[in-house]
Amino acid sequence: MRTADRLSRIEPYLFVTLRQKINAARDKGVDVISLAIGDPVEPTGQAIIDELCRTARDSSNHRYPTDEEKGMLAFRHAVARWYRRRYGVDVDPTGEIIGLIGSKEGVHHFCLGMVNAGDMVLVTDPGYPAYKASVAIAGGVSESVAIREEDDFLVDFSSIPAEKARAARAIFLNYPNNPTGAVASLDFFNELAAWAREYDVIVCHDNPYSEIVFDGVERVSFMAAEGAREVGVELNSLSKPFNMTGWRIGMALGNREVIAAMSKVKENTDSGIFNAIQYAGIRALDECDDQIDRMLDIYRTRRATLAETLTACGLDARAPRGTFYLWARVPEGRSSAEFAEEVFDRAAVVIAAGSAYGPAGEGYVRFSLTISDERLAEACDRLRDSFAG
Ligand SMILES: Cc1ncc(COP(=O)(O)O)c(C=O)c1O
Repeated sequence: MRTADRLSRIEPYLFVTLRQKINAARDKGVDVISLAIGDPVEPTGQAIIDELCRTARDSSNHRYPTDEEKGMLAFRHAVARWYRRRYGVDVDPTGEIIGLIGSKEGVHHFCLGMVNAGDMVLVTDPGYPAYKASVAIAGGVSESVAIREEDDFLVDFSSIPAEKARAARAIFLNYPNNPTGAVASLDFFNELAAWAREYDVIVCHDNPYSEIVFDGVERVSFMAAEGAREVGVELNSLSKPFNMTGWRIGMALGNREVIAAMSKVKENTDSGIFNAIQYAGIRALDECDDQIDRMLDIYRTRRATLAETLTACGLDARAPRGTFYLWARVPEGRSSAEFAEEVFDRAAVVIAAGSAYGPAGEGYVRFSLTISDERLAEACDRLRDSFAG
């Protein structure tokens, strides 16, 4: 059977390849520890689970979701309250917010709603691989904007040639950044909004790690920038702050026309999020800030443990200022993929090769902090045994 041509433009999804590798080793009885994927192992908070159970028993919630593709108004109001409380931003729940089946779904529907065949979309290199895939599915063409360590992995707008900026339809950015752990300030977002206005580029700021910051770094939303909602939208998600990756719930907010376009795509694709999950989401947003603080304490300890271990192993590794990923330089003389392979072969620890996030990720590897303390300790022991002098 011949599949659609568009599929051939998508690179194999990074974690599918990794998952195959892990499974093959596990089948052979190897005790593999994966530090490759950002998927918190701690359970979702009990209050959120209780709210799901309570509302799932109400048969009125068994029907198509209320307000279908937009997300129920009560959920959108909860998002607005959360943005006001956590980021000091006012967003209108009736026209500037929609519910999403996770931020990843938003990436896809942003492209289907805003990108025409042949349109150029800028994506950071390194960057989250789903941006390129969604651009390709929409028929657009991705162009990379390298983000470099010497710029703290922030986009240097002055390095984007004016012709390239003028030709671009949209740009994807993500701070706190996967994979580098870099964070951005409000000044940076003000610069982004001004640049986007000057070159007429639509911004899609993907912000699912907005709550995962350390060392006094301020939580920032792109929506707080001057003129942000004239030029774009922000995606966010309950996945990472509330350990809800499996629940599939997030939100897009910002520019009304972009929100309406995404809503139109959703209206013709899915029928929204199960009401009971939205009620549970409201509970999380309104009442579970303490869970975020608890997880930040856990990640803070883990990142210190891992950074110390990697330094002992001779790697140039610093604790990230944001996200639950640690981005480290590989030792001289090896490529990212070779080093990730070596770590797997010697320690049965899976890490992600930086090159999987784009050519500028070459020379780096990414470690995730989302496994249990015990397994992380075991992984660190193995790394020290295999690599520390
Ligand atoms: C940058 C980025 N965006 C989006 C997602 C997907 O998040 P969600 O679970 O909300 O779809 C991830 C997940 O790892 C991510 O790293």
